[in-house]
Amino acid sequence: MKLLVTGGAGFIGSNFVHYALKEHPDWEITNLDKLTYAGNLENLKDIQDQPGYHFVKGDIADRKFVDKLLGQGFDVIVNFAAESHVDRSILDASPFIETNIKGTQILLEGARQYKLGRFIQVSTDEVYGSIDSGRFTEESTLSPNSPYSASKTAADLLCRAYFKTHRLPAIITRCTNNLGPYQFPEKLIPLVITNALEDKPVPVYGDGLNIRDWIFVVDHCRALDVVIQKGQPGEIYNIGGDNEKTNLELIRKLLELLDKPQGLIQFVTDRPAHDRRYALDCAKIATELGWKPAFSFEKALSATVDWYLKNESWWRSIKSGEYSKYYKKMYLER
Ligand code: NAD
Ligand code: TYD
Repeated sequence: MKLLVTGGAGFIGSNFVHYALKEHPDWEITNLDKLTYAGNLENLKDIQDQPGYHFVKGDIADRKFVDKLLGQGFDVIVNFAAESHVDRSILDASPFIETNIKGTQILLEGARQYKLGRFIQVSTDEVYGSIDSGRFTEESTLSPNSPYSASKTAADLLCRAYFKTHRLPAIITRCTNNLGPYQFPEKLIPLVITNALEDKPVPVYGDGLNIRDWIFVVDHCRALDVVIQKGQPGEIYNIGGDNEKTNLELIRKLLELLDKPQGLIQFVTDRPAHDRRYALDCAKIATELGWKPAFSFEKALSATVDWYLKNESWWRSIKSGEYSKYYKKMYLER
């Protein structure tokens, strides 16, 4: 099987490439990535010369480029490529529109032209918006609150429309918050770990009582593998870890694991339109495709902490680059 993975140099995409090459040595994987601030070839260094793996630098929103690449013939597209950080979408939504909406449409159009067998859109629980109690199912109303989640919702609706209109075999997955190796340190867990290791304050938005459901990135990759092989065109599958935590609970646990003082916690101004709680009903993927998470939250968290402890040069080089400007603007100058 020939897969085109987009955004494979980012957090989840690079974990997926590692996972897929190990689990399916017969798959041929081409990784198309623009290498934005979030894309990092260091994430793939150990497999860069592996047979069956190819890297191509390019933009999913570049129609000519995508057309030419898809002409090589693929069976499946797994679309991870996206601008993925809510806070950046609040500072400037434009790249989110360009990549997440226009880029997805260009991939869909290419998949239609070249009659690809399957198009997997890697989406998010954030498209449903916030829920105070209960859980969202795949039938729930879409109610995004940030420019990031609005752009992901638009992409989901385009996938739906290409399935309805052109019978393009698109499948949408909506996953909760991932944790694991190679996550860019602008996101909560790696931000807390790396700030704490540097004895810097750990910023908590608002009252810290917002709830997220956390899933180990390998469990997300396992779910995508099942969807690629057994998912039904036109369907949506929720993917969750069944690990709801308030941000404060999570941060306290991380500081404990790192043996750092709870006094590093610093409450800061809340994120605008900060979703209070995300929670998904994942019965569909369990009953129809037989997937459920394999890793406990405790195991996932300690594996993640260990990885950041062992890979200090990885995150230190990121933190000293473009990221330092973002961090200054976001946390030190407001
Ligand atoms: P990330 O920001 O770590 O990686 C995104 C990757 O996409 C980077 O390698 C970047 O260079 C690449 N990219 C960006 N724009 C591109 C373009 N125009 N053309 C080609 N490549 C481009 O993101 P992530 O956390 O790995 O998320 C991957 C996908 O999973 C996203 O679609 C995101 O919406 C979704 N998702 C993420 C989470 C999470 O917890 N991180 C949860 C659910 C869904
Ligand atoms: P984040 O990792 O940005 O993921 P998302 O907003 O997509 O769920 O944030 C996770 C939660 O942590 C979210 O409720 C916002 C909060 N948060 C903080 O309290 N402080 C921070 O510095 C960051 C980055 C996030």
